[in-house]
Amino acid sequence: MHISVFDHEGALAAALATRVADLVAARPATVLGLPTGRTPLPFYEQLVALSRARGLDWSEVRTFNLDEFVGLGAGDPGSYRRFMEERLFAPLGIAPGQVGFLDGRAGDLEAECARYEAAIAAAGGIDLQLLGIGANGHIGFNEPGDHLEAPTHVVTLLARSRAANALWFGGELARVPGQALSMGMAAILRSREIILLATGAEKAEAVQAAVRGPLTTRVPASFLQLHPRVSLFLDAEAAERLG
Ligand code: PGA
Repeated sequence: MHISVFDHEGALAAALATRVADLVAARPATVLGLPTGRTPLPFYEQLVALSRARGLDWSEVRTFNLDEFVGLGAGDPGSYRRFMEERLFAPLGIAPGQVGFLDGRAGDLEAECARYEAAIAAAGGIDLQLLGIGANGHIGFNEPGDHLEAPTHVVTLLARSRAANALWFGGELARVPGQALSMGMAAILRSREIILLATGAEKAEAVQAAVRGPLTTRVPASFLQLHPRVSLFLDAEAAERLG
């Protein structure tokens, strides 16, 4: 794993925005895997600003997001699709036809997961997968537990993950859906390259366990150690337990 530590999240966001902008400039038909959450917000802001400054062309890029809440979709406040539309897709002019997303309102959720994996494969696979990490060590919504699921699947969210998402629902925990759809570990690990971003002291323990700990389903991010091209972009607080 290649680890980069930045003084503050603004510097991390700027470096990552440059990295992704350079990739899109060099390879306009790049397939990006994208996360939601608080961590990537400064990065998305910087990417939009940098893209405008450079006049970057996004018309051939394809995107696939990691996860979505069951019962929510485009247009629903709190949905990850809406988050992405507002923060990235609309500002960059990324059209719906370029966007891959799990549909939390699908009638047959199992079929929706299979459709999504097929769509990623049909796009040629993910070139660069960006990931956040939960304070509990989850990636996407692959939650810690006795086992992990390789394929894209329906997840029952742990209390800690629901609480971490309350801010997208006006701070009301009761409004956070109890289930989500998530790219599975296999789908994530099939990406050609992975960059995990983490900021803040509350992620330090999960980062340490992911990087230095044994492979364990109790820390899903620890399985990133199996991937040949993983980079971590950390701020000083998230890196503080790496010594
Ligand atoms: P966060 O979420 O960026 O809001 O901390 C990250 C995650 O849970 O994967």
